[in-house]
Amino acid sequence: MKYIKYNYEYDNKLKVAVIGVGGHTFRNILPCFAYAPVDLVSICDLDVNKAKDVAGLYGAKRVYDNYYEMLEKEDIDAVFVIAGYDDNHKPLYPKIAINCMKLGTHVWIEKPPAASSKEIQEMLEVSRETNKQVMVGFKKMFFPSIQKVKQIINSDGFGDVTSFYIRYPQNIPYNINDRQKDREMMWFLDHIVHPLSILVYLIGEIDSIYYMINDKVGSSSTNIIFKNGAIGCLHLAAASSNTSPLERLEIIGEGSNVVLENGVSLKYYKKGDRVIKELKHTLGGYGRMSSYIGDDEVAPMIWEPEFSLGQLYNKNIFMLGYAQEIIYFAETLLNEDVIENGSLAQALHILKVYEAYKNEQKTLIKI
Ligand SMILES: NC(=O)c1ccc[n+]([C@@H]2O[C@H](COP(=O)([O-])OP(=O)(O)OC[C@H]3O[C@@H](n4cnc5c(N)ncnc54)[C@H](O)[C@@H]3O)[C@@H](O)[C@H]2O)c1
Repeated sequence: MKYIKYNYEYDNKLKVAVIGVGGHTFRNILPCFAYAPVDLVSICDLDVNKAKDVAGLYGAKRVYDNYYEMLEKEDIDAVFVIAGYDDNHKPLYPKIAINCMKLGTHVWIEKPPAASSKEIQEMLEVSRETNKQVMVGFKKMFFPSIQKVKQIINSDGFGDVTSFYIRYPQNIPYNINDRQKDREMMWFLDHIVHPLSILVYLIGEIDSIYYMINDKVGSSSTNIIFKNGAIGCLHLAAASSNTSPLERLEIIGEGSNVVLENGVSLKYYKKGDRVIKELKHTLGGYGRMSSYIGDDEVAPMIWEPEFSLGQLYNKNIFMLGYAQEIIYFAETLLNEDVIENGSLAQALHILKVYEAYKNEQKTLIKI
């Protein structure tokens, strides 16, 4: 667990600007700056009056409605781009990120990073040419619960990851022609990056997928084979109730499993073969055990958040990883390290998996 410093406690800060102050920036991104080593120099939005109001709230020194002008006039180390989609329903990030790198800044972009793997390749090329880094806001990689799952599955007792199940409510067009169109695929692209970023972060690169779509509501079930041999199912549970939690994740190792419900309720069922066998032997084996309560040595570990104290972990910006991803971005750049979580390499792989859904369903598709 990381000790969180307040913004004013940092001696060394990254000079940053924000491009795009819509709803998400206002609700979830700017509040994180209070805990990150950043100095908010300026804000840019096409709606300059909104930019002025937001700048006043968050202490940005100047506002712009044109980011070229802003980056020419200001001395900025990195920009946060939270701009959304263009009129053709494609994410604005590749174009803006490339321009910003060429104008001399590192870039943090929101998801979805692009509408195609080709655009990610283009960002990678400019990143290499300019020596500027791009990080994608794959917030789920920074959930405290997902980070704990990673620690568990990498621990000695868990064994290799052998299989998994992940659920997320999202539909996909049933008609293959619609799956070629950015407009029809926009919401699928917007959301598929969430479960895929969890899988890539936790398990690694995907080798191939096989998927089926329900023709009534566009829900889907995808069998996934990972390069490391792990297998599992991505269930995109469209048409589930809006009153229901969205997500469920289970990862199975070798005699062990970890279950995460709703992004917060975490249960680790530890490997207990030896103790359980000894217990069965002592008590006379199958059919004679009167209690389901096992030995402490094999007891599951359970974590739930508490909602009583005024702690940082109770804020959604920490529970959903927003603050952690921004702190990580700023600290990585200040330390002159390389972005590994939320990297363009991960984004490239995720976009290749997204593109696989443009193929016929019910076929094995190599990534
Ligand atoms: N990670 C998450 O949990 C999460 C949650 C919500 C939204 N998002 C993502 O955040 C992004 C923005 O979402 P939103 O709901 O805030 O959208 P929005 O439409 O409310 O805001 C976008 C803002 O960007 C500005 N903008 C667009 N192009 C610009 C340019 N060239 N220069 C300056 N400003 C420009 C617009 O004027 C607008 O104010 C999307 O990519 C969305 O997918 C992520």
